[in-house]
Amino acid sequence: MTEAWQRVKVWDGWVRLFHWSIVLLVVGQYATAELALMEWHFRLGYLALALLVFRLGWGLLGSDTARFARFVQSPLAALAHLKHLRRREPDTEVGHNAAGGWMVLALLALLLAQVGTGLFANEEPGESYGAHGPLAMRVTDGLSGLLTELHELGFNLLVGAICLHVAAVVAYAVLKRQDLVRPMLTGFKRLPAGMVAPRLGHPLLAVALLALGLGLAWWLSTQG
Ligand code: HEM
Repeated sequence: MTEAWQRVKVWDGWVRLFHWSIVLLVVGQYATAELALMEWHFRLGYLALALLVFRLGWGLLGSDTARFARFVQSPLAALAHLKHLRRREPDTEVGHNAAGGWMVLALLALLLAQVGTGLFANEEPGESYGAHGPLAMRVTDGLSGLLTELHELGFNLLVGAICLHVAAVVAYAVLKRQDLVRPMLTGFKRLPAGMVAPRLGHPLLAVALLALGLGLAWWLSTQG
């Protein structure tokens, strides 16, 4: 029996822009922290914050496949999905699968925690960057110190989650023969004919959410 296929746009340009920008930003944040280029570390951090604000809004109001309500399923559904990880089968997921949805939430939560703690972080004793997050002086030294430690610990957790994320993408390619990377680059997937294409969010809403994120980031940058 020959199955009919159709090309479906599963990831809008905004989600793809968000994804690959965050990949570059995480690398940039690591490099600027290691090289003590703190002004750039802050600038990239504000950009990450703006993108995360956009992604949260887009997850509530944006395209179908970006919406949390659509891709967050029960933990049992995620476990049931993982049971079939070794089964070679065609990709019929229009958006994130039940397990991937939880991975996405974890990554977004860790990224938010990084940005959030960074706003209150201060240089550690012995360091002399002369740099502190814009809200560091609004809390006690003790709390700022604790949030600085969490900022460092959080980065290690984020790296762990990213490794798991990339390992999952590789596992899908090797075990299931499903290429998840190409759709995240092009937006399109080859799916069985008859599957309903997801509804795409309005570009003006995306621009408004990005503007909101950039505005909030700019305002925070003036608070230091
Ligand atoms: C800094 C590293 C990375 C971070 C923080 C990250 C984060 C994320 C997030 C938050 C999503 C959900 C996208 C959304 O719904 O908005 C996602 C999805 C995805 N990422 Fe990454 N990612 C990283 C690196 C990579 C790399 C290196 C690859 C390629 C090997 C990759 C491939 C994918 C794919 C294919 C999806 C869609 C998965 C699906 O079909 O459900 N990611 N990633």
